[in-house]
Amino acid sequence: MAGRIITVAQQKGGSGKTTLAANLAVAMRARGLSVALIDTDPQGSLGRWYIERLGRKGEDEELEFSTSSAWGASYESEKLVKRFDVVIIDTPPKIDSDLRPALRVADLVVVPVASSQVDLWATEGVLDLARREKAPVLVVMNRARPNTRLGAEVAQGAADLGATLADTQIGNRVAYAETLGQGLAVCERSDARPAREEFDTLTDEVMRAWN
Ligand SMILES: Nc1ncnc2c1ncn2[C@@H]1O[C@H](COP(=O)(O)OP(=O)(O)O)[C@@H](O)[C@H]1O
Ligand SMILES: [Mg+2]
Repeated sequence: MAGRIITVAQQKGGSGKTTLAANLAVAMRARGLSVALIDTDPQGSLGRWYIERLGRKGEDEELEFSTSSAWGASYESEKLVKRFDVVIIDTPPKIDSDLRPALRVADLVVVPVASSQVDLWATEGVLDLARREKAPVLVVMNRARPNTRLGAEVAQGAADLGATLADTQIGNRVAYAETLGQGLAVCERSDARPAREEFDTLTDEVMRAWN
């Protein structure tokens, strides 16, 4: 398989970028793909997750982690994609020209939108920038509140912005928060079946969207 680069981006902090990056990485590893993670967020949450994971699971040569400046992400990812099936770039919560290289290089930009109007407002910026860089986008509703008016409004609003909206919504589930702190992913938790199943379906969608 030719390597693919996924950039996870969203201006709003706390929308689930790092959660999606970590869970996608482990879900793709579980499908036999090799994965390189690049953290361009100076906060370093993904690095903390990775170190927790090393402590718990030991080394996995097919799951690599590195850090990079935002503007250096295209160089790093193009280097890594020669060795890994998938490169996943996690980004800081800001949208500026530094983000452009990470969008330009992406086969798919995954944009999490947590279920709030504020998150929806924050989405326009990243969609504009991705459009300018001609990067395909998949918007993923995170911490979704099914069967609520707010949930429906935000999902509709995201669809109205003209980007592809993933059919799979990610629920607001404690398993995501717990596993992130443990260096794990929801697919590794046998007691978190709803999260596992929805994330598996989302992974299918992501892998269809990058083709
Ligand atoms: N679907 C979810 N359900 C429950 N908690 C979530 C979910 N997505 C993210 N979180 C939690 O919200 C916080 C922010 O998520 P994070 O992925 O770090 O966001 P970002 O990287 O966009 O700033 C974390 O504590 C994370 O565990
Ligand atoms: Mg983050």
